[in-house]
Amino acid sequence: MKRGEMPEFPHEMLREIYEQPEALRRTLSIYLSGQRLNQGFAGRLKGWSSAEGEVLIAASGSSRHSGLAAEITLEDLCGLAVDVEYSSEYSCRGGTERRHPSAIVLSQSGETSDTLAALREAHRRGHKTLAITNASASTMALEADVSMPLAAGVEKAVPATKSFTCQLAVLYLLALYEASRMGQMDAEALTAQVARLQALPKSIEAQLDGWREQLASLASKYKSAASFLYLGRGVHYAIAREGALKLKEASYIHAEGYPAGELKHGPNALVSDTVPLVVLATVDRDLDASVLRYEKTVQLLRDLKTQGAKVIAIGNANDQEVPALVSDYVPVEPASEHLLPISEVVPLQLFSYFMALEHGVDVDRPRNLSKAVVETPSAA
Ligand code: F6R
Repeated sequence: MKRGEMPEFPHEMLREIYEQPEALRRTLSIYLSGQRLNQGFAGRLKGWSSAEGEVLIAASGSSRHSGLAAEITLEDLCGLAVDVEYSSEYSCRGGTERRHPSAIVLSQSGETSDTLAALREAHRRGHKTLAITNASASTMALEADVSMPLAAGVEKAVPATKSFTCQLAVLYLLALYEASRMGQMDAEALTAQVARLQALPKSIEAQLDGWREQLASLASKYKSAASFLYLGRGVHYAIAREGALKLKEASYIHAEGYPAGELKHGPNALVSDTVPLVVLATVDRDLDASVLRYEKTVQLLRDLKTQGAKVIAIGNANDQEVPALVSDYVPVEPASEHLLPISEVVPLQLFSYFMALEHGVDVDRPRNLSKAVVETPSAA
């Protein structure tokens, strides 16, 4: 099959999972020329960055999870101080503020009422605002000072998939831009990072069929679990949260995402034959901090093995240690630390999709949810 051609899919969610490589390519092409940020990039963001080096991110649901990943990336690569708020909380908070962050709102639809209210609140507080949405003519894109659209294409299934990975990609580009603007990254390093990001769509494309087969069989194996705990450290914690949310909404199975190091501070009491874990154990061997995080995760996996826990681990395709410590191992091609989330979330999306099928859920339209949570106009 030629690139861009899609086979028949039984559900929009599966189609949209498979569309991710193309969606990523389209989105990157808005911002890149060859292996450089294009000329419009700096112009677009002019006047947005705050001199104080602070960033405030407001979003809901999956979009907030991409914000959690961006928090770590912006802090690690740029040294910025980043706060990630729930839109629904930020928009209801009063009080005085002595900080002057640049604000980012993240929203697939660009219309979510709480995030729109957060954008307006950020304006009221005098912050410069950037909207990253999948709808370039949405209310948020039009009201924000600056807009960075995604080109994920229309997302029909209620569970967000391709918009999420495209958000991660744009946020990564933003981090590269800020790092180079602030003198934290030279031109050569920037080009190398862009090249790594550009390589991801092809790499994801090559892994999709294998993941599809493996995750379908894991969903069948784990279908009677009562609940799942998803664990990750650093930037991977955001993906643990996203994996758990996706499972809940798509399959109605309870799941929670935790920072891996928090397991023994309470949630471990839940782990049992019917409560397995999904652990993100990927690593970037070129980055000391990532290796440290990985080693701590490997130690936790040893302890979990001794405890008799059932664990599905997502790890590097060439990992020598983790497969022997866990019940099931899902390989992901190695990538750099802050890019790994874009590929490691894909098998988790597939797991949720197949769990939904196992449980007979209408995965494109799960009960009680809608694609954009907007306030119903009052009858008055
Ligand atoms: C999860 C999901 C929701 C949305 C949330 C925000 O799969 O789709 O959690 O992420 O309702 O919606 P947007 O991004 O449109 O603001």
